[in-house]
Amino acid sequence: MRLKDLGLTAQDIKDKVQKYMIETYERFDFIAETAADQYIYDENGTPYLDFYAGIAVNSAGNCNKKVVEAVKDQVSDIMHTFNYPYTIPQALLAEKVCTTIGMDKIFFQNSGTEANEAMIKMARKYGIEKYGPNKYHIVTAKMGFHGRTFGAMSATGQPGNGCQVGFGPMTYGFSYAPYNDLQAFKDACTENTIAVMVEPVQGEGGVHPATKEFLCGLREFCDEKGMLLLIDEVQTGWCRTGAPMSYMNYGIKPDIVSMAKALGGGMPIGAICATSEVAKAFTPGSHGTTFGGHPVSCAAALAEVTELLERNLAGNAKKMGEYFMSKLETLPHVKEVRGQGLLVGVEFDDTISGVEVKHECLHRYLLITAIGAHTIRMIPPLIIDEADCDAAVDIIREAVKALAKSEAIA
Ligand SMILES: Cc1ncc(COP(=O)(O)O)c(C=O)c1O
Repeated sequence: MRLKDLGLTAQDIKDKVQKYMIETYERFDFIAETAADQYIYDENGTPYLDFYAGIAVNSAGNCNKKVVEAVKDQVSDIMHTFNYPYTIPQALLAEKVCTTIGMDKIFFQNSGTEANEAMIKMARKYGIEKYGPNKYHIVTAKMGFHGRTFGAMSATGQPGNGCQVGFGPMTYGFSYAPYNDLQAFKDACTENTIAVMVEPVQGEGGVHPATKEFLCGLREFCDEKGMLLLIDEVQTGWCRTGAPMSYMNYGIKPDIVSMAKALGGGMPIGAICATSEVAKAFTPGSHGTTFGGHPVSCAAALAEVTELLERNLAGNAKKMGEYFMSKLETLPHVKEVRGQGLLVGVEFDDTISGVEVKHECLHRYLLITAIGAHTIRMIPPLIIDEADCDAAVDIIREAVKALAKSEAIA
């Protein structure tokens, strides 16, 4: 839909949103009317350099042509038909995902939080059936993020903080240990613990990659104790960190992995992959979804994954991530640059607010996100090149300089 075809103005759209929508988002003050590759265009055709990619979604570029074609083709063949008949896109995507990431079985959902619900449910059912009714406890990481539905929200290790506030008691059966602290995770496990669940890079928690010692240590510990390792790759998955899945960078394999975001290339989809042994916990009737495995989303995902792999965008993410981080190190007021591939965070010193940097960048037509008090996060499409990185760094530098100057004047 385009404003000029509808005879509407940008202000008309903002007014309708304010009047009719329940707003939980702090909006960027422009209409995202069209998009292509590493750009989003507003209603005047002004390009914004997109370094947030719909929050780590549009990895093969905005409106990737092959993904768009796949959607168009599938929409006109069959759009929706619950999960009773077999569908072609589901079968092809299932094979592509499992064989690429070395897992046995897949279950399709619609989003990241739903994928995590499925992961938690599968782990609990496996534990209870194998070891008895109390074997359902899961240890997750402090400052992690797993989603906003009750199971995933309860797994999110931020008690009394952020997304859990105001919603009453969380779901029983989780405890939290500090990220990257292997001994603390071991200490938090009890005889009732069936699994540990972590992100390989904490994205929403401030872009903190797992150390090799921590993630590989968790794998060893789970093997020793007969527990499951659950890895949330909703943000890191599908080539962003320099490998199809971030756990591949560590040379380990989880028992269950969740994914969403980049999998669909802009269409909503989530999934879990599990080993055959653990996947047996889900039997007919024990779990299900009306839309999970939607033919159009699966067709889009198949095209997106094929693009990511054929164009070696994991390789580009690794190369560009290193280049981008080295340039970001040269910015003023930087305390630390962290990341893995093209999931990159910059923490500034106490004088610079991440939210203000984000706003200053928006005024200069660069889209980034802010997390916590002093950190910005960049999660661009994986197709970017050195010139895009240089452009982004120049804008962030101008933004920080403008803020430092106004601070000095004040
Ligand atoms: C690691 C992680 N898990 C789960 C989620 C939730 O995904 P969704 O917003 O698709 O429900 C997110 C979203 O940012 C995430 O980063």
